[in-house]
Amino acid sequence: MKTVKLNNGKEMPIVGLGTWLSKPEEVYNAVLTALKNGYRHIDTAMIYHNEEAIGKAIKDSGILRKEIFVTTKLWNSDQGYESTLKAFNVSLNKLGLDYVDLYLIHWFKGYKKAVNTYKALEEIYRSGKAKAIGVSNYNVHHLMNILNNCEIPPMVNQVETHVTLQNHFLHEYCKDNNIQLEAYAPLMSYRINELLENEVMIKVAKKHNKTVPQIAIRWLIEREIVVIPKSINPNRIISNYDVFDFALDDEDMKDIRTVNTGRKIFVEFDNVDY
Ligand SMILES: NC(=O)c1ccc[n+]([C@@H]2O[C@H](COP(=O)([O-])OP(=O)(O)OC[C@H]3O[C@@H](n4cnc5c(N)ncnc54)[C@H](OP(=O)(O)O)[C@@H]3O)[C@@H](O)[C@H]2O)c1
Repeated sequence: MKTVKLNNGKEMPIVGLGTWLSKPEEVYNAVLTALKNGYRHIDTAMIYHNEEAIGKAIKDSGILRKEIFVTTKLWNSDQGYESTLKAFNVSLNKLGLDYVDLYLIHWFKGYKKAVNTYKALEEIYRSGKAKAIGVSNYNVHHLMNILNNCEIPPMVNQVETHVTLQNHFLHEYCKDNNIQLEAYAPLMSYRINELLENEVMIKVAKKHNKTVPQIAIRWLIEREIVVIPKSINPNRIISNYDVFDFALDDEDMKDIRTVNTGRKIFVEFDNVDY
């Protein structure tokens, strides 16, 4: 299993299972299928309303807790110091776990609030109940606000990243500051058809005798970006993890770079009104 090392030394599997929009009854089987087929990393969030089912699947899998990397996220309405501490405990109880591997602030909701909220994450980290902490949907100026006002640098920044939104400059900043970039919507989420129909991606997929989603995932691995494709379909869960027996070459990376348009699918980070 390929991992990346976070700035506190913790290892994080480079591929994980996404679970947004996976209903509890679906996600239970999806997590079991994933764990049975090599995944050791599951991404959830309070707002996905599936933490309980995920915790149950982890227990039922029979795999040692310490071998699985579990991420959850703090929802926007729970931001603030005390409310974050409370919300974290609710997530932990729902998951039925003693600790999570990574706890993230889900979205940016203002500079002062981010600092107060992040200070609660620092307390949680010091307590040992989150083995790593970080943020999501943060751009450079949001990260600077945390780096300038908090003590423990974030370990991870999870943002929308895929072949049409490649985030090269944000990635450079994160690397320079030892923050691991993590790609959500790696298959372009609900606009996956645009990915599947992309001619450059089809060409590269044919060359390697792989599928377009496998190329999209492998391209992030080549960049050392953590990637969390979501699926509830057993064949697709297995296929999305079958990305470690080939590599993209310089020509492939150059070709895929031309697909970048910089257009987002999800909301712009400074305009979150929920
Ligand atoms: N931090 C944030 O704000 C944030 C925002 C969005 C997402 N996320 C996280 O990132 C994860 C991934 O993002 P996402 O779920 O939006 O999108 P995604 O992983 O890019 O794409 C998921 C979609 O692709 C389909 N799919 C998966 N594998 C496929 C394959 N091999 N062939 C064809 N279709 C395939 C899935 O359907 P099936 O399930 O039917 O296979 C689903 O419709 C989320 O689940 C969540 O954990 C975080």
